[in-house]
This record gives sequence, structure tokens and C-alpha cells, in this order.
Amino acid sequence: MSVDEARRASMLRVDQAGEYGATRIYAGQLAVMGQSSDEARKIARMADQEARHRLVFDRMMAERGVRPTALQPLWEVAGFALGAATALMGPKAAMACTAAIETEIDRHYGQQLDQLGDVDPELSETIAEFRADELEHRDTAIKAGAEQAPAYPLLSGAIRLGCRIAIKLSRHI
Ligand SMILES: [Fe+2]
Ligand SMILES: [Fe+2]
Repeated sequence: MSVDEARRASMLRVDQAGEYGATRIYAGQLAVMGQSSDEARKIARMADQEARHRLVFDRMMAERGVRPTALQPLWEVAGFALGAATALMGPKAAMACTAAIETEIDRHYGQQLDQLGDVDPELSETIAEFRADELEHRDTAIKAGAEQAPAYPLLSGAIRLGCRIAIKLSRHI
């Protein structure tokens, strides 16, 4: 079954929402952590990539006439809050947040790539490129001690669940 234009518009909408959410999470973390620690520098580097991802999806949405999710104001606040809350739990919890989210995003982008096949090379290539960045973010977070965060399984599970819900909502609303 080929993926029609409406379905691809919905993919772009959810992906832009996710990249936007990512910029807000990192903004929340950096607001708490400042700029000077080793972890903060790693986060700032990932945040720069998320900002770029977001801009690319913004441009593609404008070119294709796709509206953004109506939930943008919610992701603005919820993303920042999640970032700030995890950073307040400590740098390893901040990294656990990234590891959890990127695990879900990897799965999500992988599913989209499977569904797209070769119907939309521009979108597929963009998703594949960003997916590689997200996997790097996940590895960076794990190397920085994500799994040693307090209550890691619980924290990680809760964030992954929230991420899956956010994806479902942004697809349609
Ligand atoms: Fe991203
Ligand atoms: Fe990322």
C-alpha cells in the first residue's frame, strides 16, 4: 500500500513537532544546568542539531503547505518542563531523558522509513539523516551515564511512554 499525500503530511507534522519538542527539552535542561559543565556542552551540541532538524522540517512544511500541530504550545511548555525536571534530578537523569527519547524516535523514524519505501525520496533521505543524528545522541547520552541515573528503569519507561503518546497526538491534532 503506497503512502498518500495526507499520510506524508501527517508524518511531516509529527516529525516537526518532535524536533521542536527536542529543542524545548534541551532548552529546559540548559536553563537548569548552565553552559559550563561537560554534560552541558554535550547537550548544547545536541541542541544545535535539533534546531537544524526543526528548521529543515519547517521549510519542508512551508513548501508543501502542511500545517503544524495545534499542540505546539503544549509541546513548548511540556518539553521545557521535562528538560528542566530531568536536569534538576542531576546530569545523569538529563542524559537518561535523551536516551529514552532517542530510543523512541529511532523506532518512530524507522517505522516511517519502512512505510515510505521509495515514494518520497526527499522526506525519506531527511528522516534517514536525522535518525542517524538521533542514534548518536542516544549513544552520547548512554556514554555520559544515562543508565546510572536514579530510578533509571522507571524514569526511562515513563519518558518513553510520554514520547509515544506525544507522537500519537501530534499525528492527528
Ligand atoms: Fe532531532
Ligand atoms: Fe536528538
